[in-house]
Amino acid sequence: MDLFYLVIAFFLCALAAKPVFLGVSATFAFIKGMGGSNRFEKSIDKYNKLQNDGDTSLDARNANYADLVSQYYDLATEFYEWGWGQSFHFADKRKGENFHSSILRHEHYLAGRLGVNHGAKILDCGCGVAGPARNIAKFTGANVTGITINEFQVNRGNTLCQQQGLAGQGAGQVQVVQGDFMKLPFEDNSFDGVYAIEATCHAPDRVGVYSEILRVLKPGGVFATYEWCLTDAYDKDNTDHQFIKKAIEEGDGLPDMCHTSKCTEALAKSGFDVLEARDAALDGHEGGDPWYRPLTPSWAPWKWPRFQFNPVMFKLFPYLLEALEFVHIVPAGTAKTQCMLQYGGVGCERGGATGTFTPMWLMVAKKPTKAKAN
Ligand SMILES: C[S@@+](CC[C@H](N)C(=O)[O-])C[C@H]1O[C@@H](n2cnc3c(N)ncnc32)[C@H](O)[C@@H]1O
Repeated sequence: MDLFYLVIAFFLCALAAKPVFLGVSATFAFIKGMGGSNRFEKSIDKYNKLQNDGDTSLDARNANYADLVSQYYDLATEFYEWGWGQSFHFADKRKGENFHSSILRHEHYLAGRLGVNHGAKILDCGCGVAGPARNIAKFTGANVTGITINEFQVNRGNTLCQQQGLAGQGAGQVQVVQGDFMKLPFEDNSFDGVYAIEATCHAPDRVGVYSEILRVLKPGGVFATYEWCLTDAYDKDNTDHQFIKKAIEEGDGLPDMCHTSKCTEALAKSGFDVLEARDAALDGHEGGDPWYRPLTPSWAPWKWPRFQFNPVMFKLFPYLLEALEFVHIVPAGTAKTQCMLQYGGVGCERGGATGTFTPMWLMVAKKPTKAKAN
């Protein structure tokens, strides 16, 4: 009997060993990646200045969007990769899914809407470190070009593509280029399909970014996107809702957030035929979890990142990071950066729980084969 329990204990330890090992090695990689650099300290002050000091009017933030976003991702990229993975977006969890499979299903669904063939040319607008681009290239066999405004993400994304055998020639390959999606550095009619995942919310003007996407897409090609939006439940006079909007904008590097209807209107105004526009957060996930569950506070330490949002850890975590800064294990500015990201997390969670915000306003649109008369 003792042997039976010993064998069970051995199997349980073996099962737990893999996630613990992965978590510890990701943490070491995260700390090592940041080590010795002072870019956090410089960037967080610059970023806070852009969001909070001097002229913080919408016009000023829109005018500074490129700086605002790039500073934000200088700060956030390694934190995202450490705490979330190589795909920087939300997904609801359906029955039987784990976090990773829910992320993949969310990406595959969008890719499926593009209706492209093996070897097609796809653009990922606002690609992060190209986690979705790699998954979609493997899923569709299409060649994916990802564009991001942030130089750190370009280098990191291309390194990961190389490490995962997806850089180079042939179908199912991925490359990341640096550029601004308000002025896409590509020829007219050059892509068979374009997608954007939780990225064009950073644009100062939706018509501007969608018009650029329309320009580079081939006639008849499809653009599919998950947009960050305020919903019908948002009341601009409600102070809780105002807090949610502000926390998301400041904690997530956005100049402004708009209502779902504004995005759909902007897509049509840019010249697209809108095929579908709906809130994918409202799709059923019975037996699973809504998209914002990973940000809901939990007291269970193995529920990460939820554990950091419980009231004690929420207060304690910045002090822990400050102590690590003091002994030079993490660079100066790490604690301030984490506070800013935590603030964004709280805004998203409150937005999800109240239904005032969605990170998955799904829009699918086609470029007309003949130019529309205005
Ligand atoms: C939340 S991340 C999502 C990344 C990626 N779609 C994913 O799901 O992993 C937003 C991305 O949009 C990019 N981005 C924001 N504004 C941009 C701009 N004006 N031009 C190009 N990329 C931009 C950021 O650099 C970042 O890579």
